[in-house]
Amino acid sequence: MENLEIPKGTKSEIYAALLPQITALTEGESDPVANMANISAALREAFGFWWVGFYIVRADSSPFGKSLVLGPFQGPVACTRIAYGRGVCGTSWKEERTVIVPDVEQFPGHIACSSLSKSEIVVPVFRNGEVTAVLDIDSAELNTFDETDRTWLEKLLSSAIVL
Ligand code: SME
Repeated sequence: MENLEIPKGTKSEIYAALLPQITALTEGESDPVANMANISAALREAFGFWWVGFYIVRADSSPFGKSLVLGPFQGPVACTRIAYGRGVCGTSWKEERTVIVPDVEQFPGHIACSSLSKSEIVVPVFRNGEVTAVLDIDSAELNTFDETDRTWLEKLLSSAIVL
C-alpha cells in the first residue's frame, strides 16, 4: 500500500475506512516498531491530530521498576519517560483503561509536553492481559475525543500487531 484512502465524512466513517487499511499495513509485519510507526502516521494523516504516538512499558531503575518510554510517534518532540501512575499516560497504564481528557488543564498531574495540547486520549495496548504500551493522541483543540474514538481505537489496537 502506498497511499491511504481517507473519505470525507464523520469521525466514524473515517475510522471505518481506516481500520481495514491499518490492518492491511500491519498484519503482514511482525516488527512492533514498524507497526507503531505506521499506525501513528495513519492516524495523524487521517485526522490531523497534533501528536500521535506510543509510549512503551520498559524495565528501568525507577522505584516501580518500569516506566513508559517514548516509542514511534508523529508530531513535535515529546517527553521521553513517564512514571507509573503519572500523567494521563501513566494513569491509563496503572488503571488499565482508556482515559479521555476533554481539557488537559483540568486533569490533575497532566504532563504538558507541549503547551499547544488541549485535549487528549490514551488507550492501553494489552498483550497476555498486561499493558505493554499506550497509544497517546493529543489535540490542539478542547473536547476532541469521545466514545467514538475510544471504541474505534480500542478495536484498532486489538486487531493490529503492536507489542
Ligand atoms: N500529556 C501526556 C504526556 C505525553 S505527551 O502529551 C506526548 C500525559 O499527561 O501523560
